Amino acid sequence: MSQSFTIARLGHQGDGIADGPVYAPRTLPAEVVSGTLDGSQLTDIRIEMPSDQRVKPPCRHYKSCGGCQLQHASDDFVADWKVGIVRNALAAQGLEAPMRPIHTSPERSRRRATIAVRRTKKGTLAGFHGRASDVITEIPDCHLLDPALIAAIPVAEALALLGGSRKGVLAVTLTLSEAGLDVSVKGGKPLDGPLELALARATEKHRLARLAWEDEVIAMREPPVQRFGAAEVVPPPGAFLQATKDGEQALLRAVQEVVGGARRVADLFAGCGTFSLPLAQGAEVHAVEGEAAMTEALDRGWRKTRGLKQLTIEARDLFRRPLMPDELAKFDAVVLDPPRAGAEAQVAELAQAQRPTVAYVSCNPVTFARDAKALTEAGYQLNWVQVVDQFRWSAHVELAASFTMNHTKP
Ligand SMILES: C[S@@+](CC[C@H](N)C(=O)[O-])C[C@H]1O[C@@H](n2cnc3c(N)ncnc32)[C@H](O)[C@@H]1O
Repeated sequence: MSQSFTIARLGHQGDGIADGPVYAPRTLPAEVVSGTLDGSQLTDIRIEMPSDQRVKPPCRHYKSCGGCQLQHASDDFVADWKVGIVRNALAAQGLEAPMRPIHTSPERSRRRATIAVRRTKKGTLAGFHGRASDVITEIPDCHLLDPALIAAIPVAEALALLGGSRKGVLAVTLTLSEAGLDVSVKGGKPLDGPLELALARATEKHRLARLAWEDEVIAMREPPVQRFGAAEVVPPPGAFLQATKDGEQALLRAVQEVVGGARRVADLFAGCGTFSLPLAQGAEVHAVEGEAAMTEALDRGWRKTRGLKQLTIEARDLFRRPLMPDELAKFDAVVLDPPRAGAEAQVAELAQAQRPTVAYVSCNPVTFARDAKALTEAGYQLNWVQVVDQFRWSAHVELAASFTMNHTKP
């Protein structure tokens, strides 16, 4: 039986929610929709009264593909919604902050994608998983990915023919590097001599910069360099990288503005040096990161680059062993860019240490707001927040924020 509902708001996954709650994917606030209830989920949805923020999805794959959630909404709506999520997360902690205009990465700018590939009777099927399903949707006209990644989907298919099992789905992560494609495969057949040889040949044939199988490097034609400021870094396979170069630059500009004229900077959760290496052009930097393979890559990049200031590295679990106030005392600025869980333990020490400036980059507004509360309670001022949207048309929210301590401990 068909029933009508009015959508009240969007949930954190970007789904419309009506009173009940009733969940209606791909609907917008104030829309009147009808459909059949399956538990709390509305199915066979018809839009009876569309929102004036509803637009025609730019991508022809949107209906079936699970890669995007918000292509049916105007850019202005998505921008306001994402900024509102951060504002609400802060309000839930009793905080307010000036919100800078959102920075959204352009279409077709994602430099990394994980392509799902299944072997079929006829050959292979490659693309993104469909909406809430295991079905793979082909994405030859994807509006998210850099065209060079789309052009590389046949490489993912070729690798599945060589090393994909009959039943499993291969996850092929394609990353653009200065030297060409950096490819990392998971979920394939176990490596043996013949497979290794075939994969090495495929690396040559497709002119890949590097190929890794379950994190083991099989072949490297050329080091898959990423450029951070003046430095060139060869990250370990699958290492964290900001999703778009454009978003990386927006986050870096925000961090540089906060850190300003600092002479000694601690870059915590430093990855392979996205912020550390550009910052080392003007300041001494101590880069701390949990994965030793990443700090080592960062260090090699620094050593090969002329003109940078002193940079030191430390592989350290900052959840279990945060930098303590006596260790933080020598830095006049701290950069934090933790994973989704946030930086609770580190922020507790920063609260004690009272450093003059903190740049906080976050991919989770809820843990950011929790940590922001701890910092402001310790006397830091939250000066501004900027949402940086590298995951256009998705429900992900990322941000950069500026904190300063008004009364620094001597
Ligand atoms: C969001 S990424 C940011 C990396 C880097 N700042 C960048 O922009 O490329 C978070 C980083 O934190 C690291 N990480 C995760 N858990 C950690 C922990 N407990 N201690 C230290 N580093 C951790 C990850 O390896 C990852 O490199």
